[in-house]
Amino acid sequence: MLKYLILLLFWMSDIEASPLGRQELANNIRYIQIGSKFYYNEDALRINWFGASNICRQLGGFLVNLESEEELKLLSPHLHPSLSYWTSFNDLAVPGIFASSTSGRNARYLNWSAGQPDNTGGVEHCVELWRSSTSFQMNDVQCETILHFICEFEADSG
Ligand SMILES: *[C@@H]1O[C@H](CO)[C@@H](O)[C@H](O)[C@H]1NC(C)=O
Repeated sequence: MLKYLILLLFWMSDIEASPLGRQELANNIRYIQIGSKFYYNEDALRINWFGASNICRQLGGFLVNLESEEELKLLSPHLHPSLSYWTSFNDLAVPGIFASSTSGRNARYLNWSAGQPDNTGGVEHCVELWRSSTSFQMNDVQCETILHFICEFEADSG
């Protein structure tokens, strides 16, 4: 609940583009470090992909840009097994070509769950992490769907 309030505060205070430094992050939100990245997974608030992207930016980060199987494997134990989380991946620019809004480049690593991406109804252009079987994998979803989300921060930011 406290985490939710803090996040809401950030969200509503419209802080100008001063990225939070590592120390500020440590003081304000619970984050985890894996390698050179810090992550913040929001388990309380759900919001659509665009809103999630904005909140990560307000916190000085970006929606998560998974770059390897190792990164996914190390991050997965920190996620709530029954929740789904937005990633930065989307094919809004070129249908069928998934890029990361964080890097601006095509995704280096995609790991789809069985039968995905299926672009159900022709409207699924944003990528979630969900635990459809025994591990977290990717699925394409309509970007307006409200989900939890994961932000990433470079260790040297701020
Ligand atoms: C995708 O994830 C599954 C489950 O963790 C794993 O077994 C598989 O090797 C992964 N595939 C790729 C291409 O990384």
